[in-house]
Amino acid sequence: MSGAKENNVGAYRLDEKVLNVLGAYHQRIDEERGNPRQEAPGGRDGGQDQRMRAVGPETGRFLNILVRSLTAPTILELGTSFGYSGIWLAEAARATGGRLITMEVHGYKSAHAQAMAERAGLADHIDFRVGDAVEMIRELRGKVDFVLVDLWKDLYLPCLEAFYPRLNAGAIVVADNMIYPATEDVTIYARAIRGKPGITSVLLPVGSGLEVSRYEPE
Ligand SMILES: C[S@@+](CC[C@H](N)C(=O)[O-])C[C@H]1O[C@@H](n2cnc3c(N)ncnc32)[C@H](O)[C@@H]1O
Repeated sequence: MSGAKENNVGAYRLDEKVLNVLGAYHQRIDEERGNPRQEAPGGRDGGQDQRMRAVGPETGRFLNILVRSLTAPTILELGTSFGYSGIWLAEAARATGGRLITMEVHGYKSAHAQAMAERAGLADHIDFRVGDAVEMIRELRGKVDFVLVDLWKDLYLPCLEAFYPRLNAGAIVVADNMIYPATEDVTIYARAIRGKPGITSVLLPVGSGLEVSRYEPE
């Protein structure tokens, strides 16, 4: 779906500032997807990797719809990158009286995400945390109502083990890249979350494939 089209889809309208920022991201996503082989020197963690690896507009909209169905949720995003998915999540946080905690290992990506959130008028609803997500989840105070799992795939399982004890009743967990690219790590994650007590889970062909799970204590 093209970025420009996506901006006008939906019964509720996003405000101008949010739409402008999403439009800028959509242009960058289109450019990045047009150059799929353009890898940063040194790979994904070398130098100043500029690839956003963003969830894209279909998943962004889906996340926004899901979070808007919650009441004042605490949202945890694992993998801020340059801030695209965070705009959709923070817009829903603002609409529902919730807040977003977003975690990213690279400070330069988090700083860009923060600047874009300020342009979108959403920065007050976001707590940007820089460091290793697995460590930072363990340091979290309080419980969470929504989790987006979208960092390096070998971290999906350790992140799950860290955030599972922190899920509130009714919490929703969405993991990206569950269909594309297909990796053993995401298969391991799907098996693990489906085996957790109180979890009901389904794989949806939205964007790159989403495992959507809900926690209801037994
Ligand atoms: C797929 S991108 C996230 C895309 C983002 N959710 C979006 O849609 O805009 C994955 C991000 O996870 C980050 N990451 C990798 N390892 C991490 C770790 N241990 N802790 C926190 N973030 C990490 C990477 O630097 C990268 O920016």
